[in-house]
Amino acid sequence: MIFLSQILCIYFVVEIVKSAQINRNIIIDGNFDDWLNVQSYSDPQDNIDGTVYQESPWFSALKIPDCHDGTHMGNENIPKHIYNPNVDIVEFKIAHDDKSLYIYFRVADGGIIGKTSVGSGKFDENNPSNPSPGRFYVITSINLDMNEQTGYWLSEGGYYPTAPGLDGNFELEFYNGTYNQNYYLNHAGNSTNELNYTKEQNRQNQFILGTNFYSYYTQYIYWDHRPTENEIKKCLFGFYELPSPNNNNFICFSQDDAPGPFNGILSYAQSEKGNELEIRAPFQGFLLNKNTGEPTLQLGMTVNISLTLETSPEYSLPQEWCSDSAPTIQYTLSLVSLQYLSCFTSRKALNLDYNGFLLSKVNYTKQSSYFQETIDIDFGFNHNPKRQLNLDDTHRQMSLETLQKYASLFDGFIINIGKEYFEQNRDRIQTYLTSIPDNKLKMILIRDVQQEQT
Ligand SMILES: *[C@@H]1O[C@H](CO)[C@@H](O)[C@H](O)[C@H]1NC(C)=O
Ligand SMILES: *[C@@H]1O[C@H](CO)[C@@H](O)[C@H](O)[C@H]1NC(C)=O
Ligand SMILES: *[C@@H]1O[C@H](CO)[C@@H](O)[C@H](O)[C@H]1NC(C)=O
Ligand SMILES: *[C@@H]1O[C@H](CO)[C@@H](O)[C@H](O)[C@H]1NC(C)=O
Ligand SMILES: *[C@@H]1O[C@H](CO)[C@@H](O)[C@H](O)[C@H]1NC(C)=O
Repeated sequence: MIFLSQILCIYFVVEIVKSAQINRNIIIDGNFDDWLNVQSYSDPQDNIDGTVYQESPWFSALKIPDCHDGTHMGNENIPKHIYNPNVDIVEFKIAHDDKSLYIYFRVADGGIIGKTSVGSGKFDENNPSNPSPGRFYVITSINLDMNEQTGYWLSEGGYYPTAPGLDGNFELEFYNGTYNQNYYLNHAGNSTNELNYTKEQNRQNQFILGTNFYSYYTQYIYWDHRPTENEIKKCLFGFYELPSPNNNNFICFSQDDAPGPFNGILSYAQSEKGNELEIRAPFQGFLLNKNTGEPTLQLGMTVNISLTLETSPEYSLPQEWCSDSAPTIQYTLSLVSLQYLSCFTSRKALNLDYNGFLLSKVNYTKQSSYFQETIDIDFGFNHNPKRQLNLDDTHRQMSLETLQKYASLFDGFIINIGKEYFEQNRDRIQTYLTSIPDNKLKMILIRDVQQEQT
């Protein structure tokens, strides 16, 4: 009798994968199809009357106008409404892959992200029609260590709704009608001396996490190759090669409306209408965490992210600085990629190896990123001594408690079980399944199912 292997594939995929924070392949090209399945978050759409409000979870009694000025500061303060569709975030998304974080912004219809006026004189509020060089900032602020005591409060910079503990930013600056620079910020310290220390550490590829008042931050452009001579010449405060093993990576400290353009390591693209923008920020721009020696941002971490668009007065009503910040999102840089789920039906496609772990043996080159960075958990597998549950590479038996702890790191679980084990241990399997949170993908592959003879 021939035992044909038939794989039973159970999955609860579509809705879960849509909303999960999973490892993606986003291409920065101004085409947003690759964002379609990424979870969407919304921010209210402002109106000219200023009757659209938002609250910070940390100060929920305060009603903050959605788009507002930049002169009020502090958690207990309420800024003044300013109307400007160019900064009026209505939708945003966050994604990542093995090396970078990706952000998607959409502003209200008619708004254009990065739109700035052109001129030579300074903006003069008594003579606002005099052409002046406008500025526009696309800002991502991150609580990198999930410690509310290190980093700044958003409101210290005039941004609302406020959130605590923001240690680092990455930003795009548009200036005088065009793109000007992209850079990272390290927010640490409360004095010019401490700022000086942060600078010296940044030059050594170190990122500082410490208590901070907003105005103390370093601002550096990061290149993963030697910049052009023109860029080097324009660096205002020196130009530094990072120490070994990061030779050939460079930073130069910058400031707002520096004489760009500087094409640092961040990249972005916009829709034709200009109301959508995607940005890619390599983790490496956040250097190494001075406390741990590890990359400051890397896969496996959970961080809090606050997005802001901000612009100078020219196109605002009334003509004042104007910004809109989105609700803070807790985001996990999960290890697993699950975007190419399909139900496997042929043994050939899977190249099953019963002695090994299912997925590590799969040759699925068509969309291979599906299988990168996965960790397999298997149970009922004949190790000696026999273990009920095993996390690959840990080489120890895993308790339910540990499974629950790890569960948050993963987007989902593909459970590969022999039919016999499955039938003899239904209760145990049920226990494992229920101990995995409901918002995770759970897929069971039952192998060695005998093909029915006809
Ligand atoms: C802005 O650009 C315009 C046109 O290129 C130029 O005439 C003007 O001097 C620039 N302004 C500044 C502040 O560089
Ligand atoms: C992270 O953001 C979430 C959602 O806003 C919030 O509930 C949580 O308290 C934040 N955590 C920290 C450490 O700020
Ligand atoms: C930091 O301060 C020292 C001593 O005051 C000074 O020599 C050095 O140039 C400063 N470094 C930076 C990066 O500003
Ligand atoms: C730095 O400033 C923050 C915010 O004002 C404050 O909470 C912190 O205690 C200060 N740290 C030091 C070392 O002064
Ligand atoms: C995977 O499949 C591709 C295409 O069929 C083939 O070129 C490649 O050699 C295979 N890789 C392995 C490791 O089997």
